[in-house]
Amino acid sequence: MVCLGNICRSPLAEGIMKKKLEEHGLTGTVDSAGTASYHIGERPDPRSEEIARKNGINISTQRARAFSRSDFDRFDLIFAMDRENYNNIMRLARNDQDRSKVELILNRLHPGKDMEVPDPYYGGKDGFENVYRMLDASCEQIALGMKK
Ligand code: 4NP
Repeated sequence: MVCLGNICRSPLAEGIMKKKLEEHGLTGTVDSAGTASYHIGERPDPRSEEIARKNGINISTQRARAFSRSDFDRFDLIFAMDRENYNNIMRLARNDQDRSKVELILNRLHPGKDMEVPDPYYGGKDGFENVYRMLDASCEQIALGMKK
Protein backbone atom coordinates (compact mmCIF):
# COMPACT_ATOMS: atom_id res chain seq x y z
CA MET A 1 0.00 0.00 0.00
CA VAL A 2 1.70 3.16 -1.17
CA CYS A 3 0.88 6.87 -0.82
CA LEU A 4 2.99 10.00 -0.64
CA GLY A 5 3.84 10.50 3.03
CA ASN A 6 2.93 7.04 4.44
CA ILE A 7 1.17 8.78 7.32
CA CYS A 8 -2.46 9.23 6.14
CA ARG A 9 -3.78 6.93 3.42
CA SER A 10 -1.44 3.95 3.13
CA PRO A 11 -1.24 3.23 6.90
CA LEU A 12 -5.04 2.99 6.86
CA ALA A 13 -4.90 0.75 3.79
CA GLU A 14 -2.35 -1.48 5.55
CA GLY A 15 -4.48 -1.76 8.70
CA ILE A 16 -7.69 -2.40 6.79
CA MET A 17 -6.09 -4.98 4.46
CA LYS A 18 -4.62 -6.92 7.41
CA LYS A 19 -8.08 -7.07 8.98
CA LYS A 20 -9.63 -8.25 5.70
CA LEU A 21 -7.11 -11.10 5.44
CA GLU A 22 -8.07 -12.22 8.94
CA GLU A 23 -11.79 -11.93 8.26
CA HIS A 24 -11.50 -13.92 5.03
CA GLY A 25 -9.15 -16.55 6.45
CA LEU A 26 -6.39 -15.51 4.05
CA THR A 27 -2.66 -15.29 4.67
CA GLY A 28 -0.22 -12.80 3.28
CA THR A 29 2.19 -10.03 4.15
CA VAL A 30 0.79 -6.51 4.09
CA ASP A 31 2.94 -3.42 4.45
CA SER A 32 2.83 0.24 3.47
CA ALA A 33 5.28 2.89 2.32
CA GLY A 34 5.45 6.42 0.94
CA THR A 35 7.06 7.71 -2.22
CA ALA A 36 8.27 10.85 -0.40
CA SER A 37 10.75 10.77 2.46
CA TYR A 38 9.74 13.73 4.62
CA HIS A 39 7.80 11.73 7.24
CA ILE A 40 10.10 8.71 7.60
CA GLY A 41 9.98 7.27 11.11
CA GLU A 42 6.78 9.09 12.08
CA ARG A 43 3.67 7.37 13.37
CA PRO A 44 0.41 7.77 11.40
CA ASP A 45 -1.48 11.07 11.35
CA PRO A 46 -3.69 11.27 14.48
CA ARG A 47 -6.76 11.56 12.24
CA SER A 48 -5.89 8.27 10.53
CA GLU A 49 -5.26 6.61 13.89
CA GLU A 50 -8.62 7.87 15.13
CA ILE A 51 -10.75 6.67 12.20
CA ALA A 52 -8.96 3.31 12.32
CA ARG A 53 -9.55 2.98 16.06
CA LYS A 54 -13.24 3.80 15.62
CA ASN A 55 -13.39 0.83 13.26
CA GLY A 56 -11.54 -1.54 15.58
CA ILE A 57 -8.13 -1.28 13.91
CA ASN A 58 -4.94 -0.25 15.70
CA ILE A 59 -2.46 1.37 13.34
CA SER A 60 -0.57 3.32 16.03
CA THR A 61 2.48 1.05 15.98
CA GLN A 62 3.15 1.68 12.29
CA ARG A 63 6.09 3.92 11.36
CA ALA A 64 6.48 5.66 8.03
CA ARG A 65 9.07 4.39 5.58
CA ALA A 66 9.98 5.15 2.00
CA PHE A 67 9.07 2.86 -0.87
CA SER A 68 12.18 1.28 -2.31
CA ARG A 69 13.08 -0.79 -5.34
CA SER A 70 13.48 -3.88 -3.14
CA ASP A 71 9.72 -3.74 -2.49
CA PHE A 72 9.26 -5.11 -6.02
CA ASP A 73 11.05 -8.26 -4.85
CA ARG A 74 9.19 -8.53 -1.55
CA PHE A 75 5.60 -8.09 -2.80
CA ASP A 76 3.36 -9.53 -5.51
CA LEU A 77 0.91 -6.64 -5.55
CA ILE A 78 1.63 -2.94 -5.12
CA PHE A 79 -1.32 -0.59 -4.71
CA ALA A 80 -0.94 3.13 -5.32
CA MET A 81 -3.43 5.60 -3.83
CA ASP A 82 -3.25 8.15 -6.66
CA ARG A 83 -1.67 8.75 -10.05
CA GLU A 84 1.27 10.68 -8.66
CA ASN A 85 2.15 7.77 -6.37
CA TYR A 86 1.59 5.38 -9.28
CA ASN A 87 3.98 7.32 -11.51
CA ASN A 88 6.59 7.57 -8.73
CA ILE A 89 6.49 3.80 -8.22
CA MET A 90 6.60 3.10 -11.96
CA ARG A 91 9.72 5.25 -12.30
CA LEU A 92 11.52 2.89 -9.90
CA ALA A 93 10.41 -0.26 -11.74
CA ARG A 94 13.24 -2.18 -13.40
CA ASN A 95 11.32 -4.33 -15.86
CA ASP A 96 7.87 -5.45 -17.05
CA GLN A 97 7.51 -7.87 -14.14
CA ASP A 98 7.92 -5.00 -11.68
CA ARG A 99 5.51 -2.82 -13.64
CA SER A 100 2.88 -5.57 -13.80
CA LYS A 101 2.60 -5.54 -9.99
CA VAL A 102 1.49 -1.92 -9.72
CA GLU A 103 -2.19 -0.89 -9.70
CA LEU A 104 -4.26 2.09 -8.65
CA ILE A 105 -6.11 0.69 -5.64
CA LEU A 106 -9.51 2.10 -6.65
CA ASN A 107 -9.37 0.16 -9.91
CA ARG A 108 -10.26 -2.90 -7.80
CA LEU A 109 -13.52 -1.15 -6.94
CA HIS A 110 -14.13 0.74 -10.19
CA PRO A 111 -12.20 -1.19 -12.86
CA GLY A 112 -10.60 0.86 -15.58
CA LYS A 113 -11.73 4.20 -14.15
CA ASP A 114 -8.31 5.27 -12.79
CA MET A 115 -9.92 7.01 -9.82
CA GLU A 116 -7.78 8.33 -6.96
CA VAL A 117 -7.93 8.18 -3.18
CA PRO A 118 -7.79 11.91 -2.39
CA ASP A 119 -4.98 13.19 -0.20
CA PRO A 120 -6.74 14.10 3.07
CA TYR A 121 -3.72 15.76 4.72
CA TYR A 122 -4.82 19.40 4.41
CA GLY A 123 -8.54 18.79 4.91
CA GLY A 124 -10.75 17.99 7.87
CA LYS A 125 -12.03 14.81 9.49
CA ASP A 126 -14.60 14.24 6.74
CA GLY A 127 -11.76 13.59 4.34
CA PHE A 128 -10.43 10.79 6.50
CA GLU A 129 -13.87 9.18 6.82
CA ASN A 130 -14.23 9.32 3.04
CA VAL A 131 -10.77 7.79 2.57
CA TYR A 132 -11.60 5.07 5.09
CA ARG A 133 -14.78 4.09 3.23
CA MET A 134 -12.99 3.98 -0.14
CA LEU A 135 -10.16 1.86 1.23
CA ASP A 136 -12.47 -0.49 3.11
CA ALA A 137 -14.45 -1.20 -0.07
CA SER A 138 -11.31 -1.60 -2.18
CA CYS A 139 -9.59 -3.90 0.31
CA GLU A 140 -12.72 -6.06 0.45
CA GLN A 141 -12.45 -6.50 -3.32
CA ILE A 142 -8.73 -7.30 -3.06
CA ALA A 143 -9.51 -10.00 -0.47
CA LEU A 144 -12.26 -11.44 -2.66
CA GLY A 145 -9.85 -11.42 -5.59
CA MET A 146 -7.33 -13.45 -3.57
CA LYS A 147 -9.90 -16.21 -3.08
CA LYS A 148 -10.36 -16.84 -6.80
P1 4NP B 1 -0.44 10.60 2.66
O1 4NP B 1 -0.78 12.12 2.98
O2 4NP B 1 0.33 10.60 1.35
O3 4NP B 1 -1.77 9.96 2.53
O4 4NP B 1 0.38 10.07 3.81
C1 4NP B 1 0.17 13.14 3.02
C2 4NP B 1 0.92 13.32 4.15
C3 4NP B 1 1.82 14.37 4.21
C4 4NP B 1 1.97 15.22 3.13
C5 4NP B 1 1.22 15.00 1.98
C6 4NP B 1 0.32 13.96 1.93
N1 4NP B 1 2.86 16.30 3.20
O5 4NP B 1 2.90 17.11 2.25
O6 4NP B 1 3.59 16.44 4.20
